[in-house]
Amino acid sequence: ATGTEPHPQRGGVHNPTRAAITARHLRTDRWWLAPAATAAGLLAFVVYSTWRAFADTDYYAAPYVSPFYSPCLAENCRSMPHGPNADLFGSWWGISPAVIVLIFPLGFRLTCYYYRKAYYRGFWASPPACAVPEPHRRYTGETRFPLILQNIHRYFFYAALPVAGVLTYDTVLAFRDEDHAFGHMGLGSLVFLVNIVLIWAYTLSCHSCRHIVGGKLRHFSRHPVRYRMWRVVGRLNARHMLLAWASLLSVALADFYVYLVASGVFDDPRFF
Ligand code: FES
Repeated sequence: ATGTEPHPQRGGVHNPTRAAITARHLRTDRWWLAPAATAAGLLAFVVYSTWRAFADTDYYAAPYVSPFYSPCLAENCRSMPHGPNADLFGSWWGISPAVIVLIFPLGFRLTCYYYRKAYYRGFWASPPACAVPEPHRRYTGETRFPLILQNIHRYFFYAALPVAGVLTYDTVLAFRDEDHAFGHMGLGSLVFLVNIVLIWAYTLSCHSCRHIVGGKLRHFSRHPVRYRMWRVVGRLNARHMLLAWASLLSVALADFYVYLVASGVFDDPRFF
């Protein structure tokens, strides 16, 4: 074979208008490594977060509340002497209260431009990597239902802002002692601090945020404040992938830390 015979499959890169190459692709490097590692990392997070979200236990160890369970919006987590709480869901809500709030950060990440690329490549092989054709016969991108719904990402960005605000509030409370006086600092306080910095950095590095801040302007010179904000968001945006992974890891670690302390595995080491 010369490698130039027409391929029996006619769609996608094998369309007659494209170069007729029989080889599935011409890449010789380990192109599969990145999508495989991505799929493994995302799968690990999905398994961990599903377990913790439905566990409905060990999510509060004063003064720390797991980021998976905040804000508390159901009656069955009202025993937690920690704000912000609201009984939007009464006693009829029988399952874990985490399920109510996790929809927003989950939707934000699921529709995120970076995560879309990550799971399209890692799980659907659509396509698995640059210059490697996908195994499916047809490719419609995000032009049809259900993937066209990915366009609601901007609204999930708006929903993610108050959630990040609540987690900021929780981080402030992580510096209070048993008497609710500020001045406490334990290892958990630092874990929460790192987490909230990464959560905000990820949230503000969002492509939608960049467009909201600096998009649809004809002249930056007439909007100096928005221009400055756009520059800051743009710098974060260049590291969006890194921030996506770092904040995913930090939010899982913050939750795991609360779990370990709440379940009595160890006491929170206190610095003062
Ligand atoms: Fe990733 Fe918006 S593009 S969070």
